[in-house]
Amino acid sequence: MRICMIGTGYVGLVSGACFADFGHDVTCVDKMPEKIEGLLAGRMPIWEPGLEALVKHNAEHGRLKFTTDLVEGIRDADAVFIAVGTPARRGDGHADLSFVYAAAKEIAGALTKKAVVVTKSTVPVGTGDEITRILHENGAPEGTSVASNPEFLREGAAIRDFKIPDRIVVGAEDEFAREVLREVYRPLFLNKAPILFTGRRTAELIKYAANAFLATKISFINEIADLCEAVGADVQEVSRGIGLDNRIGPKFLHAGPGYGGSCFPKDTLALLQTAEKEGVGMRIVSSVVEVNDARKAAMADRVREVLGGELQGKKVGVLGLTFKPNTDDMRDAPSLALIKRLQEGGAEVVAFDPVGREQAEPMLSGVTFAEDAYAVAKDADALVLVTEWDEFRALDLKRVAGSMRSKHLIDLRNVYEPSDVERAGLSYRGIGRGE
Ligand code: UGA
Repeated sequence: MRICMIGTGYVGLVSGACFADFGHDVTCVDKMPEKIEGLLAGRMPIWEPGLEALVKHNAEHGRLKFTTDLVEGIRDADAVFIAVGTPARRGDGHADLSFVYAAAKEIAGALTKKAVVVTKSTVPVGTGDEITRILHENGAPEGTSVASNPEFLREGAAIRDFKIPDRIVVGAEDEFAREVLREVYRPLFLNKAPILFTGRRTAELIKYAANAFLATKISFINEIADLCEAVGADVQEVSRGIGLDNRIGPKFLHAGPGYGGSCFPKDTLALLQTAEKEGVGMRIVSSVVEVNDARKAAMADRVREVLGGELQGKKVGVLGLTFKPNTDDMRDAPSLALIKRLQEGGAEVVAFDPVGREQAEPMLSGVTFAEDAYAVAKDADALVLVTEWDEFRALDLKRVAGSMRSKHLIDLRNVYEPSDVERAGLSYRGIGRGE
């Protein structure tokens, strides 16, 4: 199969590299020359475990190419994937589809034979219909078809998630699209990945429904965590106790500082926009968003409380800035809201993140960046663990305590056992650990 991938962001680059690894002939196209130059030189635009080696390996074998020239990238393609960004529009939260539609227009003029144009970007229901209209209006070859193939990979585990997915969803309106996508994904069938064929609009909605449901699980357990603190229960055990019920499942029940990232915040808002446009009430999703926004802000109050109600003049150390471990992504990271509120309260903030510093620094004015976790703890009045990077999981707590001015650990990811922390001479405050 000859595949063209438009857009070398998370989804485009990981999918392109994985398709090439499965033996397809893949060309990735991006408008930004510096991105393509970097990729040609083996430099990744994002930090994702395993990606650099995968890209280099497949590029060396000639299966994975990079270009800024969309016409060249599309020549003879059987499938053209659109994986450009769909950021939330400022103001109304609606998904901004201008990049998607611009790509569709260019694809129409560049196709040399009938092909399947596939949206991999997360796009609102009905976008496939509009792409179909744009393609035909701009002279795409007769028989060109449009399909929706949402991607469910997680940052930090992207390659594994792509190669061993729980399911592949394909929304198509004709046999040609179904046939081509079955071929594209055939190598994954060996991993027993079930492929689900649906209508195009249904596939588009599945992506939003999945992300909104996962976000709901997180907001739900976060509210239960607050209740645990009030009644003297332990949220970790509540999660286990409910998660062992197969109907609930154990995943996405970790209480924490609220969800962040480039997907849940954006996709829940976009889903609400669609619902509003259609006149359908979505009170659950709307509450999920509200609970999450409030939660991020409330994390700073926790720090204030531990510090006896006063942030002014206090030095707060922050461990981890990215929205989750194993990524350098800072989009909607809970650390941003937390640090802003700490600074507004008069605290001085020192922070460390294993890989996120470059992305974080321009977003966090007034923050001092330290070289490691121990340097963050030095002379601090409180140490807040925000992102659960592995290297924060086994800190020498005695050493940490020894260098702090006042000795408090606020563990927003429940990484530590309270008794271990207290034994090292620090006070402990976790999430939902009321026992
Ligand atoms: C999410 C989905 O999990 C993917 O399936 C989807 O493909 C992707 O969005 C997308 O739409 O592109 P991602 O945003 O990379 O993936 O990361 P997650 O692992 O889902 O974490 C999202 C946020 O939820 C993080 O801030 C994380 O810390 C938080 N979270 C996750 C919790 O607070 N508790 C949990 O139990 C799980």
